[in-house]
Amino acid sequence: MAREETVEAIADRCDLAIEKHHSMAEFTSIGVGGEVKSVFRPDSIDSLGRLLKDLRKAGYRPRVIGGGANLVAGPGPFLDPIILTRGIRHGPLFEQERVRAGCGVALKRLVRACVAQGLGGLEFAEGIPGTVGGTVFMNAGSYGGQMSDVVREVSVLDESGTCRRRIVAAQDFAYRQSPFTRDDVIVEAVFELQRADARRLEEQVKKNAQRRIQSQPPGERSAGCIFKNPPGDSAGRLVDALGLKGISVGGASVSKAHGNFIVNRGDATPSDVLALIDLVKSKVREGSGVVLEEEVDIWR
Ligand code: EPU
Repeated sequence: MAREETVEAIADRCDLAIEKHHSMAEFTSIGVGGEVKSVFRPDSIDSLGRLLKDLRKAGYRPRVIGGGANLVAGPGPFLDPIILTRGIRHGPLFEQERVRAGCGVALKRLVRACVAQGLGGLEFAEGIPGTVGGTVFMNAGSYGGQMSDVVREVSVLDESGTCRRRIVAAQDFAYRQSPFTRDDVIVEAVFELQRADARRLEEQVKKNAQRRIQSQPPGERSAGCIFKNPPGDSAGRLVDALGLKGISVGGASVSKAHGNFIVNRGDATPSDVLALIDLVKSKVREGSGVVLEEEVDIWR
């Protein structure tokens, strides 16, 4: 599709720097992904809104990345602009039992700040990588909790770049799914927590961290769980029961610690990771009849 204006002209008008010569490997926790043509790092909701509006009006399809913790990017090249939201990190701001945070705030930072304030409800999130925006968008969860248990208000930039506030309830979300679409960009969330003893919360957080270290690959490059759990079962257990832990394509392997993780052993290419995802899916379908569905976002 013909573009009505260059990305450079839009960057100038929005007074934002445009970065070139990057690859998606730099912006994803699994560390694979092809070349990207242009990258923006807005640091306010206003500048992100203006940028989105102008890029879309000119015919671009910008892609937005939070922490890149649940994303597998293919070989690319990715010609449309990439927008990193990590710079929009106001907060956490406490208002009694509520806490407000910008989309780019690392979830880890939010959990720590809430515990220190003696506010409970987010301990389940200890060790979940990523940012407020990304984890609310995918309704990330762990150890019996998920973001929808605590998120009560979300501000999004809609398709036209206008900021809209939406009150949300747990029932608006489903397993790893929020009511927001790819055209919405979450820019801020408000969570409702409960007063609790800070020391008890700290202990719970430590317990969760310990459990995670024992059951998931610590310190390795991964995109978190690759597949959603099928109803009533665990994708990791299924992969494990079929003896698929450790199988590899090139530099990508199914983790020996947890069957639902694919790790980059250092030299994985995007095609290695994508081929391994397909291989695991087909082996699980043949071996157990279950059709696994990806939890990670995949950019082909
Ligand atoms: N299991 C195995 N082998 C494995 C992995 C798991 O036998 O390789 C067994 C475990 O022993 C356990 C059961 O399967 O009996 C469930 O395992 P686990 O507690 O590790 O939980 P999970 O269902 O595999 C889910 C989430 C994780 C979250 C954990 C902990 C999904 C897809 N995964 O995994 O979330 O951290 O529970 O609550 O919902 C993520 O979403 O990226 C993620 C990692």
